Amino acid sequence: MLPEVTAVRYVTPLREGGSLPGIVEADDLGTYVMKFTGAGQGRKTLVAEVICGQLGRALGLRVPDLARIQLDPVIGRCEPDQEVQGLLKASGGLNLAMDFLPGALGFDPLAFEVSAAEAGRVIWFDALINNVDRSWRNPNLLVWHGELWLIDHGATMIWHHNWPGAAAAAGRPYDASDHVLATFGPDLAAAAAELAPRVTEDLLTAVAADVPDEWLADEPGFDGPDAVRRAYVEVLLERAKSIGDRITVGERSKDKPSQAPEWVRVRLDGRAGK
Ligand SMILES: Nc1ncnc2c1ncn2[C@@H]1O[C@H](COP(=O)(O)OP(=O)(O)OP(=O)(O)O)[C@@H](O)[C@H]1O
Ligand SMILES: [Mg+2]
Repeated sequence: MLPEVTAVRYVTPLREGGSLPGIVEADDLGTYVMKFTGAGQGRKTLVAEVICGQLGRALGLRVPDLARIQLDPVIGRCEPDQEVQGLLKASGGLNLAMDFLPGALGFDPLAFEVSAAEAGRVIWFDALINNVDRSWRNPNLLVWHGELWLIDHGATMIWHHNWPGAAAAAGRPYDASDHVLATFGPDLAAAAAELAPRVTEDLLTAVAADVPDEWLADEPGFDGPDAVRRAYVEVLLERAKSIGDRITVGERSKDKPSQAPEWVRVRLDGRAGK
């Protein structure tokens, strides 16, 4: 189970984030990036953060530590921003925290060099979880102490927005043309050979067990949280077998509008004032 902390001070909003995550301090003296259940896409985004974050870390990728975080909206009562006030009010109870990496820089492909091996591992992982949010427009990668860290796995596993079509989604290809690491000559064959055998049923079951029951409750068509967990395990297990053969790296789009699907756009545009 993820460790659990309680937020004691809301420090500041992270305005770069479409879902308006905030920096908070917690009762374990830690500083965290907090993702709110009351934000845009709500709890499914947080489910994706937990499953993909824990899976990525288990596969040896760097993802900041995750924790469950309890929020009493009263800690935001001195916050002058109405949007933040609203978010805190809508998010009382259990939320998600990610360890804050102080001094981390946003990844810039022109400023940092990534090896073909590492680029391959990250792209293979993003293909597995169908991450549409690691493009050159929005890398969602940080550089901290000279190393690459993966953040923001909220816009992944599109199939959990349409469970009846999930089995078919397991077989879908992944277009990495706009992936921020596509220009580093990603060694996808080596990544698939290394990582695919590690995505076992046991690992996926352990990762899904980290999702709090209350974020899985009342999912239409399922008989309780464990049945939903099982559905995540099945799709990812199936996808891991052969996704390596279905990753394409074509020509990067230039001034075309973002390829992000409708459900991501809703999240980005749904925020008042953005
Ligand atoms: N663990 C962290 N440590 C330091 N900075 C972070 C961390 N997590 C996020 N950030 C900063 O906050 C920004 C927003 O975070 P994140 O991308 O997770 O939010 P989001 O609302 O899901 O964003 P998006 O608009 O990409 O959907 C990041 O671009 C990064 O600058
Ligand atoms: Mg982001």
